[in-house]
Amino acid sequence: MADNGDSFPVMAVPLAPKIQQEIQTKFGSFDKGLVEVGPGRYLLPPHCRLYLDKYAQFRFRPDDVVVTGFPRSGTTWTQEMVWCMTHDLDFTTAINTPLRERSPFLEYDSIYRPDFPLPSFLVDSKQHPDVDPDTTGVFLAHAESVPSPRIIKTHLAFSILPPSILESCKVIYVARHPGDVCVSSYHHQRLLKLMNFKGDLEEFLDFWCRDLVMLGPYWSHLSEAWAKRTHPNLLWLYYEDMNKDLLRELQRLDHFLATGLTEDELLQVAQHSSFANMKARPATNYSLIPESPILTPGEAEFVRKGATGDWVNRFTPQMKAKFQAWVETGSKAVEEVPPRYTQG
Ligand code: A3P
Repeated sequence: MADNGDSFPVMAVPLAPKIQQEIQTKFGSFDKGLVEVGPGRYLLPPHCRLYLDKYAQFRFRPDDVVVTGFPRSGTTWTQEMVWCMTHDLDFTTAINTPLRERSPFLEYDSIYRPDFPLPSFLVDSKQHPDVDPDTTGVFLAHAESVPSPRIIKTHLAFSILPPSILESCKVIYVARHPGDVCVSSYHHQRLLKLMNFKGDLEEFLDFWCRDLVMLGPYWSHLSEAWAKRTHPNLLWLYYEDMNKDLLRELQRLDHFLATGLTEDELLQVAQHSSFANMKARPATNYSLIPESPILTPGEAEFVRKGATGDWVNRFTPQMKAKFQAWVETGSKAVEEVPPRYTQG
């Protein structure tokens, strides 16, 4: 047990067999189904059980910056900007080293399939969970070993992270409209063989509106973070604001991180991290993944469209009605969420 007061048992309960079967039919890689984790019932593959206590006890360092948010909310974009800002604007390293090597993904052991090849920078690791399931996860070990200042990405909700996280380090939560997150997740889960979704957008929306999407439920995830938004160690960012006025959001980031960058330097970060540049650059567009079998050819790319509000063009009137009903019931079922995502 860790001695930081953050030890607590994290429950992981299988979904009902009928739902499990439905998920297994449409998501090619969830052949073992999903489990509901913690009181928020966040969905993860069952092998997450090997790591849940380790996440709850993870030792964050005072100079860590954690970038979090629901998957497909703009966390990769934020990671890239924050990494550059906290690493002396070292654009050369940023261009030449894959982002996920520079900035670890805390729970990737739980999402990664143990039978898939490891990224090249971890290939020599002896700790692959397939080899020794009792050992620390290989991605977790990477997160532990990265030199300070670490920029750690996680999509885990606050209730399955150490309760003391905000007393330990700075955390940035990126929020995005659930309609855009849903459409982006649909493409992403078709692209990545880690999920291997085989249906169309309407079918994906059906899972979405029943909160049957990995790392969801969306509203609980958002609500847990929203409740902490006034904590001095939490910075709340909106994807929509970053898309509209990136310099202003970079100035907020600069203030929060105390990086003391000039406007000219922030503009360099903006330029380096523009949608076009991140889409084109192998270090951020996932094309450097040597284990390309994890990507399904012909699907939308990892850095995909970068649009705001595009979901309205993708949903039919019936889909919009279903989505709106989910917004109304889901957002009311939790404590409080940003009002801008529940209106219209
Ligand atoms: P879309 O699929 O709508 O394009 P995350 O990194 O949290 O998974 O979020 C992924 C979303 O952020 C994707 O949205 C992706 O294209 C978008 N994104 C990535 N880099 C971006 C950038 N530099 N500017 C704007 N959006 C970006």
